[in-house]
Parts: sequence; C-alpha cells; structure tokens
Amino acid sequence: MAIDEMWLQFSILKKRLTNEIFYVNLEYEDKITIRLRSEICEWLGCQLTGEKSEATVVLSVNSKLDDNLEAYEVKENEIIGASSVGLLYGFYAYLRLKLSGANLSEKSAPAQSLRMINHWDQVDGTIERGYAGESIFFGRFGSNDNTDTGSFAVKNIGTDIFRNDFTRLKMYARFLASIGINAISLNNVNVRGLGTSLIVSPYIEKVGEISKLFATFGLKTFLAINWAAPKLIGELKTSDPLDENVYTWWQQTIDHIYEVIPDFGGFVVKADSEGEPGPYQYGRNHADGANMLAKAFEKYNGLVIWRTFVYNSQTDWRKRKNDRAKAAYENFMPLDGDFSDNVILQIKFGPIDFGVREPLMPLFGALKKTNQLMEFQITAEYLGHQLDLNYVLPQWLEMIHFDNYGQPKDTIRANSPVATHSGFIAIGNVGMDENWCGNKLSQANFYGFGRMCWNNDLTATEILQEWIALTFSEVKAEVQKEIFELLIDSNQTYELYNAPLAVGSMMVPHYHYGPSINGYEYDRWGAYHFSDRNGLGIDRTTATGTGFASLYAPEVAKVFEDKSKTPDEILLFFHYVEYGHLLHNGKTLIQTIYDQHFEGFERVKSYIKSWKSLKGQVDEATYDNVADRLERQLEHARNWRDQVNTYFYRMSGIPDDQGREIYR
Ligand code: GCU
Repeated sequence: MAIDEMWLQFSILKKRLTNEIFYVNLEYEDKITIRLRSEICEWLGCQLTGEKSEATVVLSVNSKLDDNLEAYEVKENEIIGASSVGLLYGFYAYLRLKLSGANLSEKSAPAQSLRMINHWDQVDGTIERGYAGESIFFGRFGSNDNTDTGSFAVKNIGTDIFRNDFTRLKMYARFLASIGINAISLNNVNVRGLGTSLIVSPYIEKVGEISKLFATFGLKTFLAINWAAPKLIGELKTSDPLDENVYTWWQQTIDHIYEVIPDFGGFVVKADSEGEPGPYQYGRNHADGANMLAKAFEKYNGLVIWRTFVYNSQTDWRKRKNDRAKAAYENFMPLDGDFSDNVILQIKFGPIDFGVREPLMPLFGALKKTNQLMEFQITAEYLGHQLDLNYVLPQWLEMIHFDNYGQPKDTIRANSPVATHSGFIAIGNVGMDENWCGNKLSQANFYGFGRMCWNNDLTATEILQEWIALTFSEVKAEVQKEIFELLIDSNQTYELYNAPLAVGSMMVPHYHYGPSINGYEYDRWGAYHFSDRNGLGIDRTTATGTGFASLYAPEVAKVFEDKSKTPDEILLFFHYVEYGHLLHNGKTLIQTIYDQHFEGFERVKSYIKSWKSLKGQVDEATYDNVADRLERQLEHARNWRDQVNTYFYRMSGIPDDQGREIYR
C-alpha cells in the first residue's frame, strides 16, 4: 500500500492544480527556491513558465514585506515571501487555502521563532514512546551488530544504522515545512550505546546527508547528546564541564560537525535526569554545563537546548513534603539570568509529565532572563498510545494561553533575552506505519502543533476543521462534520475515564497505557494520588502541603491555594479532598468520579456508532484503521471505568446515586 501523504492528498491536489502555471520571479537561487521549483514541476505536475505574463500564479521574494523573514503574503494569484523560506511557507499556505476552499488572501508571519520537533528515535530502529512502527531515520540493518548494549566500540560497525529511505524522509520534510516547522532533532534524548557516536565520524557524515535534504525545506537539524560523551567516546577520564580537556574535546567535536554540516542547529541535552549523566555528578550546575557547550557553539551561531525535566527519580514516598512538581522550578529558577545567549531551556508545559490534565509549569512567567521553549508531546504516551482518539489541541491551547504573572500573551518570547531563541517544541509521533501515526486521526495533533506554533490565535476548532478539509477533502461535508464531532471533544473524553480530576498517575507503570490505580503509589518516581478511605488528592498548598501552589504569581497562587476556588478539573492536583466534598459542579467528589467514568465509557460507545455510519464514505484503509482502534479504546475505557469506580467504591463505601453497576 502506498504511504499516506500527511495532510496533502496529492492526487486530488494535482487534479486541481494541473491547469495552473507558476512563474517564479527570483533574482537569485538558493537551495530552498530550487526545492520550490522542483516541488512545482515534479510533484504537483503543474507547469512552470519563464514568462510572468503567461502565469496563473506568480511567486516572488520581497524583503520589505515584513521584518520577519519567514513571513509571506498570498493574494489571489500572487505569493510573496520576505525571503526564500518565507516564499516556501507562502507556497504551502497557498495550497492549504486553495485545497480547503478558503479565500486566497493571507498575510502571515510565525508567532513562535523556533518551531521544533524532537524525535525519540534510537539507532536500533526503535522509538522510545513510539506508537507508529519503527524509526524513519534508523534501523538495524545488514549483518552488523548495532545493538544498543552500551558498548561503545564503533569499529567495524559502519554507518548502516541509517534507514536511508530518502523518499520517505523527503515526504516527511515536506510535511514539516507545510505546517511551518523549522527545526528537528533526530535521536532520543536518552542517548545510549552507539547513539552517543552520532556526533562523530562516520555517523555525522550520514546525519549530514539527512540534514542537507531537510535544509532544502527550511529545516535545521539538531542532535541529542549524552553528557558523558567525553568519557564514553572521547577516552577522557572525566566529563566535568569546567575541565579544560573536556571543553577542548567538545570544541573539536563541534568544529568537526560544522565542517560536515555548516548549518547544523545544535544539541538537545537531557542531563541529570532519570539516571542520565550530567554536571551534578561533578558538583557543577546546569548553567556550568550548558554554557560550556554554548561557548563551543558560539562562532557557528549554534544552540544548546537544555531540558529542565530534572527531578529526583529516587523519591521516598513516605516523605509527604517531597514534591516532584516543584523540581524543575527549584533546579532552574535560581539560575535565571545565568545562561548564555545561545542556550535555551526546554520546559515541559506542565510540572509532571504531559498528563491529560496538569496546571501550567510555574517557571513560565517567573523566568525572565532566560531563553525558553515550551515542550509538548505529540506522541501519545499518556494520552492513549494513538489507539484512543485524543485530539489534544484544546489542552495545549489552554496551556499556551494560561496567564501566569499577568504577562502579555507572548510571555515566552517576552521573557527570552534573545527573542528569536524561544518557541515551542514537541516530541513527534511518526514512524514507518503507512499512515505515519498508527492511527490516521492522530495526524491531526501533529498538524495542529505546527499550526499552533505558527499562529497562536487559531482555535482548536479552526485547526481541526482545516486538517479535516485537507485530509478528507474527497468526502462529503456531512462526513467531514462527523469526523469533526468525533475528534473535537476526544481529549475531554479521555480525561473523563482516566485518573480523576488531575490526580494523575494511575496508569500501568512504565508502559503508561491502561489503569493501575496503585501502580506508582509506593514507588520511587514521585507520582502519587494519596487515596485513603476518606478522600484523595495531593495537598500542594503552602499551609499544610508541599507549597507548590505558592510558586505561581500571587493572583494565581491565591486560586490554587484555596480549595473552594480551585477549578474542579484541576482540584486533586492541588488538594486532598474528602469524598463527600461538594464541587463547583454541585455534586460530591465521589459522585463526580462515578459520573465521569460512566460518561467517558458511553462517549466511546457513541464514537463507535458514529464511525460505523461512515463505512463506505471514507477510504477503506482509514475506515478499518480507526474502527480497529476504537474497539481497543472501548476496552480501555471499560477497564478505566470499572477499576476506578470499584477502587473508590471500596475505599469510600459510598454507592452511586444512580445505582449503576459498580463491581465489588
Ligand atoms: C517521560 C517518559 C520517558 C522520557 C522522559 C523525558 O518520563 O516516560 O520515556 O525519556 O519523559 O521526557 O525525557
């Protein structure tokens, strides 16, 4: 079967555009405009003319269009870019408008400067938290032993850890450019085994080939590094960031990378986190570590993207004042202003780990002298593994619009000393599956991430409508509407049958799919719900709890510190609440738990019914793909409903006021 082309249904597009004639009016050519020409000729099957007068669409570059060189303007039969990359985005915008039947009129510049995808792909072809097949970059091929055993003997292994499927990579790069993504890191942040050597020969040359292709779509390539690389592959005795030899090793390694890849983006670093090495091992802090690398990148304008996902993963659950939610703040807030200009902190949107409901990470708004990126997870680690329907844009948009410290809506950019060193970043969800994402409908989240980065004012509804119009352009309007209805509240549906009211962490440990109420409860990972016979929830208030609530701006803290003011949906993240407590919704906590879990399950049942009505109306592959996943989702929702309801019925002894079946 042919590989699905994410969002662009090419055959249809071709049909609509074959009569059009493009004229590209450029005084110069760079790799992006060459790409654009070849897109027009080879891919769309449209004609390119040398004469403006013959053209239906004229493309040109005008640097006066906007201060932002990525900007474009589409007006009827004209596409203008502020630079060649702006023109590339303008061209895709033209296709988007045309295909979705919108007005051919749009002037636009991206809201976020860095719009980046992290891959968690590993050199053996597996993907950490991947739900769509193997890596599109790497794989274990040939007879060489490339196992991720922790052995760093690179001799005789060669470079065939790469999949070398450049056709697929080109499709992917095109998709990324079409939604405005401009940076990508290729490998997992947990860099192990041979993955550590991607930054050196002979692997870096292969990375160079990929990066060359990506550059023609306006994308910069980054790599994740292992902090201990100087020791592991450099044969040094230490990786101490303040050691001269360590610095020299990094400088030489980075010099060599730039010889091979002159427009290399930089490094992504997960240090001192979940067992990964880092500067703490040498009594240094994160600024010492990041700035040392930044210095080596300086002359190339390279970036160090340093993750703040740092917490003690050896927590003692007996100590109630310990709070993983505070960890990133405690580790990084004291360093505000200490990082070099080419360092950017990559900060997860919430304080725990991409849960279906978390408050905003309080570092946003508080950090004022540090470049920052907000991190999202497209791959659905905690959101149903791309089996369950989960259109996540409503949740993400709530995060980016959350107002901490009464800041302007572009807080991240405003608080980054180098405004262009800020933006949004997400872990991607693609693999070798035919439809890229395992579940065809999960493509909407990737598409949505790109659109949200570009235009912060788009709503979840607008983004979804756009995606459906582009992806299901061949189906009837009623069918499109049905698909829209299925997806628009699916994140909320998932939340209904998951752990109640933001208490989090009731899923199967490590695997993170399916309920396991006490799976993490007495474990070392710092993710607890503290249920007992009287109630549940985590007291994060200053008066009696961990004090996390006080990390927000005073006006926000006032809400979260007070049980009666905290919104229902986030209540158990901040408070321990008794089962009989009356919520804002007018019901008790226990009744809310029962109602939500019954409702979540019923909603999934209705999804199945509605999808069945689409049989024969969407292509068969998509129909079967989604039908299969919905059946699995129903089973998942049933398990959540019954385990959660039974657990809390046994704990509380309070029956459901509607007498529905709860197992004993
Ligand atoms: C989560 C996830 C890990 C991942 C980590 C990270 O904890 O389960 O697989 O490595 O996030 O973001 O680094």
